[in-house]
Amino acid sequence: MDIVSLARFQFAMTTVFHYFFVPFSIGTALVISVMETLYVVKKDEMYKKMAKFWGNIFLLSFAVGVVTGIIQEFQFGMNWSDYSRFVGDIFGAPLAVEALLAFFMESTFLGLWMFTWKRVSPKLHVVFIWLVTLGSMLSALWILIANAFMQHPTGYALRNGRAEMTDFFALIKNPQTWYEYSHVIAAAITMGGIIVAGLTAFQLLRNKNLTDKFKDFYRKSIRIGLTVALVGSLGVLLAGDLQMKDLVETQPMKLAATEGAYEKTNAWTIVGWADELKKQEVFGVKVPYMLGILAFNNPNKEIKGMNELNEQFQKDFKDQVAAYKKSTGEDLNFYPPVNALFWSFRVMAGFGVLMLLVSIVGLVMTRKPDPSLFKKRWLVWVMALTTFAPFLANTTGWLITELGRYPWTVYGLFTIMDSVSPNVSTTSLLISNTIYFLLFTGLAAVMVALVVKEVRKGPELEEVAVESPVDPFEGGAVHE
Ligand code: HEM
Repeated sequence: MDIVSLARFQFAMTTVFHYFFVPFSIGTALVISVMETLYVVKKDEMYKKMAKFWGNIFLLSFAVGVVTGIIQEFQFGMNWSDYSRFVGDIFGAPLAVEALLAFFMESTFLGLWMFTWKRVSPKLHVVFIWLVTLGSMLSALWILIANAFMQHPTGYALRNGRAEMTDFFALIKNPQTWYEYSHVIAAAITMGGIIVAGLTAFQLLRNKNLTDKFKDFYRKSIRIGLTVALVGSLGVLLAGDLQMKDLVETQPMKLAATEGAYEKTNAWTIVGWADELKKQEVFGVKVPYMLGILAFNNPNKEIKGMNELNEQFQKDFKDQVAAYKKSTGEDLNFYPPVNALFWSFRVMAGFGVLMLLVSIVGLVMTRKPDPSLFKKRWLVWVMALTTFAPFLANTTGWLITELGRYPWTVYGLFTIMDSVSPNVSTTSLLISNTIYFLLFTGLAAVMVALVVKEVRKGPELEEVAVESPVDPFEGGAVHE
């Protein structure tokens, strides 16, 4: 593997791992805020226990998220120093605001929330967790302002070979920021809700002979989780639809690649495969006119194909094409990895629809105090396994966004090949890749073990559910 591929692999590995925990903690913070608000409003101790129980799981995700976030920042200096020089003047302000205001706010109020259960009134205590949620959402905003610049640069001038900020507000007002932000926050909300409902479903599978108190606790946890997930899923669909329409203008190549469209078309391909070397489709199962509706709300309109766009970009970016030829002796092509984008989009959207359906069905089936859901073991299994869906949907979402801007790090301005550190070597990259891989595997194992332990321990209610010592497959609280 060459230096650029190794550095890209390392960044992707770190980001994917880091991003398992970011929406996890934003989403669960919101669910806990809802639970604690219910405690303050209804004065029912059960909601307090719920908030405390999920609070432990939230703290785990927060801790791993912070550690991996720091590792991610190392990458800029280690492997991407030319890129850091290029965007430094733009990224400095939003990333400083993120650390100084949003992250400090989140961590300060998290500390207060953890240690003041018995020291302040419930009304003040619930304000702390809402401020943690707000802080984490603000943190995401400043990071996405920086990311949106990479996708659609605004508020800059090119001077001395780097992008310099000319208008801070243009950076904030960048429409890409707000599309991304709505989608990312809705996705995090969905994740928080699904994790709470899904892990509760695992508890249901494990515990048999539930007392009424536990049944009530689990039913309420699931209903809060699924209500939050339903709101999030609808938001994700809406924001995703707007983003897709925006891509027609801002990054048409990314859109064409996610649709596997080498030639112009208004047909939507449900499943398909591309021959990326021959630059043509191998097969595709299509719904006529559907892509016109999805991309333009007009069945007859067609999106441009990748072959036409590549030709157009050769002319639009002729200076970069010439510079690339001069430094590498090769032609710069603008085709992103088509199959990866095509399938990532289908995984993301497919799991989005699954989470929406699970939320609706789960809410309907837990309406009554003796929920019909608890008697349908296979449905509880579906809910439990859906816990993994938001992880996959979020990861594939970022793969689309980041792989789809190929060959740019900053769209239209700076290429990936120009971004890599001039002095980094293959050996150092191989060593750091191995170390990070081992570190992330270790952290993931610890995280999973601690979450499983917490979930198995269950909430601290007075009565204790009789736990099955056996595998959930062999029976539990839920039966057909
Ligand atoms: C079901 C319909 C969905 C549609 C139509 C949709 C659409 C999109 C599009 C077009 C992008 C690329 C945007 C860009 O590069 O500018 C994207 C990215 C992304 N998606 Fe989705 N998405 C859907 C569902 C989901 C779900 C269910 C999740 C996670 C729970 C998710 C998480 C993400 C993330 C994290 C990104 C990267 C950040 C961003 O660019 O906003 N998406 N999505």
